[in-house]
Formats: sequence, structure tokens, C-alpha cells
Amino acid sequence: MTALPVFARPAAPFAPDQSPPMRAVLLGCGVVGGGVLDLAPAGVRIDAVLARTPRPAGLSGIPVFTDPEAVFALDPDLVIDALPGDETAEIIVARAVAEGRHVVTANKRTAARRPDLAKLAKANGKTFACSSAVGGGAPVLETAAKLVALGRKTTRVRGVLNGTSNYVLDRLAKGEALAEAVAAAQAAGFAEADPSADLDGVDAAHKLVLIARTLWGEDLDVDAVKTESISNLPDGAAAAVARGGEVLRQVGRLTRTATGVRATVRLEALSRADALARTRNEGNCVLFAAEDGDATLVCGKGAGRVPTAASLVGDLARLCQGRVQ
Ligand SMILES: NC(=O)c1ccc[n+]([C@@H]2O[C@H](COP(=O)([O-])OP(=O)(O)OC[C@H]3O[C@@H](n4cnc5c(N)ncnc54)[C@H](OP(=O)(O)O)[C@@H]3O)[C@@H](O)[C@H]2O)c1
Repeated sequence: MTALPVFARPAAPFAPDQSPPMRAVLLGCGVVGGGVLDLAPAGVRIDAVLARTPRPAGLSGIPVFTDPEAVFALDPDLVIDALPGDETAEIIVARAVAEGRHVVTANKRTAARRPDLAKLAKANGKTFACSSAVGGGAPVLETAAKLVALGRKTTRVRGVLNGTSNYVLDRLAKGEALAEAVAAAQAAGFAEADPSADLDGVDAAHKLVLIARTLWGEDLDVDAVKTESISNLPDGAAAAVARGGEVLRQVGRLTRTATGVRATVRLEALSRADALARTRNEGNCVLFAAEDGDATLVCGKGAGRVPTAASLVGDLARLCQGRVQ
């Protein structure tokens, strides 16, 4: 067993109903995890943070470990996942679910590719929540769940689902080169070190999978979603579309028919009046269309520390109130 350093911490506040706080570990303390440290609700007590880089002094009085064994040794009730979307995170989160811990994650890759995790958590009476994985500060999955609860028959979804791509396309439309636009997105904290999943449409495809699961209980294969990459755009293409009076957008679409659900992520030239065209910078915007013609539009900041952490904290608050599974 790994020896744990002793940190002087103030007594954790009790949840409003006076039940003891849920004992949590936080995986990752970057853009999203750092925001969660600032915003975690009183019903959750973060006992440890997992990071790649050692921080001997801890973070806000909380010990930081680099070995997953050390955080699991604390036997947490809840694992909060703000790790990059890679296989390391998938292995750690799968272990947390298998051990019967609640999981709240911002990681769309793991959530989309491992539908078994949400099912296993549910079978164990535990939560597997991933609201912040889609839409950042725009409550996309929350709205999808509400439409289902209201009995609305959604048949089509159309949206700008990737804040980094939208930010990059806006800069390309002004004549900036792709490398410069990506560097600006990274400097702003929207794009990950490797932005290919954003630019290639894979990130948006993961989000479509999560929306389809929430709306229709369908488990789509992410790798079967047809995508188009911003990296393959000819130089000046977005600026040429802008000069023609339209706006180039990365658009994710879901269409439900009698034979199944079709998902695509394409680059589309949209009229300036279109709500998706009016979604600027790192914004996200999703339109849910129902078979009776009803439409529901959800827009908000799709990336960044505060909007994403606030969405994750919403899942934590619902978990504390016993409202998510
Ligand atoms: N950023 C956004 O706007 C946004 C929006 C929605 C969803 N998300 C999702 O949220 C997750 C986190 O994104 P982020 O932007 O916060 O990433 P980030 O800023 O790069 O932070 C990643 C954190 O994970 C830690 N980490 C990386 N590899 C690790 C490993 N092998 N073992 C232990 N710790 C490791 C890093 O440690 P160090 O600090 O030591 O480097 C860092 O604290 C991702 O899955 C992303 O897709 C992000």
C-alpha cells in the first residue's frame, strides 16, 4: 500500500441535510479539474487529486498523487474524472465503476465508447453522470433528458458541438492560418494539446453518441459516424464562404428513422440567420426537432474552465440530492 502524506485540512462542511459529505477523489486538476476544486458543492469532500506532475505541497490543502493506486487506496465513494480522453482515463474510470463507486466525468471519449459503464453503474445502484462532456456550459444532455421525461418525440438533432472547431472556424473566416487559429484556441484553454479529435469531428461524434443514448437509448458506434476534417479544408476556404455571405460551421446531425439512427459530422456553409451560424467562438448550440414540429434550442459556452466545471458540479449537486443515476 502507498504511504499517504498527512495534510492539515479544515473540517469538511456537512451537506445541508447534515448527512456526512460524499468522499471523493478528483482525477486531473487542469482546466476542468481546477474549476471543480474551486466549485465543488458542500456535499462532496475531495480527499485527493490524481495528476501527472507531482505537487508535493498539494492543492488547496488536498494531497496530489501521481499513482492511481494511491487514490483508490482511499476507498472513495465517488470518482470525479477530469482526465484527458485517452486509454489511461478509460482504465481508471472502468475500475471505479467495477468497484461500485459513483462516477461523474467530463470525459466524452470514455463515456461514449463504453456504454457498458453507465449500464453497470445503474445495475449497481450507482451514478455514472457525464453532463459536462457535452455542451460545456450549454445544458445539452440535461435538455435531452428533460425532453424524454416530458414525452417529446425528438426525431432530429442538429448542432455545433465542438467549441474548439467553432473558435478555429471563426478565425479562419477572418483569414487566419489554421496553425495560428489552433494555437489561439490552445492558449485560451479550449483545445487540448492534440487538437485532432476536435478538428477531425471525432469529439463531436462522441457527443452525438451521448445525445443519441440519452434521447433514444441507442448505442451508436463512434467509429461508424461519418466525419469531415477542418484540417482538410483548402487554405482560404472559410474566408471565401464568409465573403459569399455565409458561415462555415462544423455541424453534427442525428436523424432517427424507422430503420435506426444516422449520425454525421460535416462542414456546412450556413445562412447567417441560422442559429448555428450565429454561435460564435467557443459557443455550442443544439437544436432538437420533434416529430410534431416542436423545436428546442440550447446554446451556451461550449468549453472553458468555469462553464465546464459548473456543468460537472451540476451533476455532483444532483448526485448529492439523489437525483441522477
Ligand atoms: N477544457 C474544456 O473546455 C473541456 C470541456 C468539456 C469537456 N472537457 C473534457 O474534460 C477532460 C479534462 O480536460 P481539461 O481541459 O481539463 O484537460 P487538461 O487541462 O489537459 O488537464 C488534464 C489533467 O489530467 C492530468 N493527467 C493527464 N494525464 C494523466 C495521467 N496519465 N495520470 C494522471 N493524471 C493525468 C493532468 O495532470 P498535470 O496537471 O500534472 O499535467 C491535468 O491535471 C477531458 O476529457 C476533456 O475532453 C474539457
